[in-house]
Amino acid sequence: MTRTILLTGGAGYIGSHTYVELKSAGFDVVIVDNFSNARADVIDRLAQITDAPVTAHKGDVLDRTFLASVFARHPIDAVIHFAAKKAVGESVEKPLDYFETNCTGFSNVLMAMRDANVFNVVFSSTATVYGEPQSLPYTEDHRLAPVSPYAQSKVTCETLLRQLKDSDPRWTYGILRYFNPAGAHDSALIGEDPNDIPNNLMPYIAKVATGELAQLTVFGDDYDTPDGTGVRDYIHVVDLARGHVQSVAKLLDEQDTHVLNLGTGTGYSVFDMLRSYERACGKALAYQIGPRRAGDIDCFYADPTTARDYLGFQATRDLDDMCRSSWNWVSRLRNS
Ligand code: UD1
Repeated sequence: MTRTILLTGGAGYIGSHTYVELKSAGFDVVIVDNFSNARADVIDRLAQITDAPVTAHKGDVLDRTFLASVFARHPIDAVIHFAAKKAVGESVEKPLDYFETNCTGFSNVLMAMRDANVFNVVFSSTATVYGEPQSLPYTEDHRLAPVSPYAQSKVTCETLLRQLKDSDPRWTYGILRYFNPAGAHDSALIGEDPNDIPNNLMPYIAKVATGELAQLTVFGDDYDTPDGTGVRDYIHVVDLARGHVQSVAKLLDEQDTHVLNLGTGTGYSVFDMLRSYERACGKALAYQIGPRRAGDIDCFYADPTTARDYLGFQATRDLDDMCRSSWNWVSRLRNS
């Protein structure tokens, strides 16, 4: 029997890519999104990629009546919860907003699940929960030390899941701690498209490549890394999406709770990314060296072996694939 997965935040960057991978793995999928950080045309684009109509409901995870109505209409087997705010800097300015959307929103989803007798949930977490590394690579048992309201909100949700399972063993969950998602779908129909000036490296470089921004500022070139710039574990969003499919299948098939890093285990520097993007777009990209950004650390990357051994998860795409797919996506978008 076909199983149905509810994606909260399914119209967003990672949610939309996960939608495509779930459909191609044979799941039915229902999207819930308030479209606060999604393109209005993403649903049409998902229909185009999958060549099938998309079931999507516009609404907010803070609206419990709305959530109950979605569970009443569809035979949901599991939920993948993406719907959340994700800007670290903004969370410092608006901690209440982050608590409300990320923590209250998630507890609303869990309540709606419980009321509908659905007990399988995959939770979108982040490597930022680890904070300053005590040792690298980060393993899943690294201590949690959230330094921002955003990171704290994710730790709070992870804790809630553990407490819930302790209170009622019918719950099973997968906590997925993402490293740095990057790139876009091969179709160039979906990808990341921030409205404001991007905080993150790849969307910023993409806007330099399209000419929307004049130059990249490299936040420090005196870090303790091979070329002096910050090193991160970038993971292709399609690889990340496939990790969700494997995680939810594990919950449904084996009722097995898990906490996993989703990264590649390979670190790339800011200059590695810039050079790779230049190869993708075929031109030199302007940059200047600026001061370090507050709160940044020199280097972090995942130990991906638990996800590999447990789920069989392995990233197959490298930095050039990420930059090429990003460039295809943004250049097509600007020319359309
Ligand atoms: C950030 C978030 C993290 C989130 C991740 C998602 C912070 C402190 N952390 O991580 O919670 O999960 O994004 O991908 O915000 N850089 C530049 N110039 C720029 C932008 C970035 O040099 O204009 C450098 C940074 O200094 C860093 C690297 O690029 O070395 C990556 O930065 P970014 O994409 O913002 O990701 P993180 O800081 O790793």
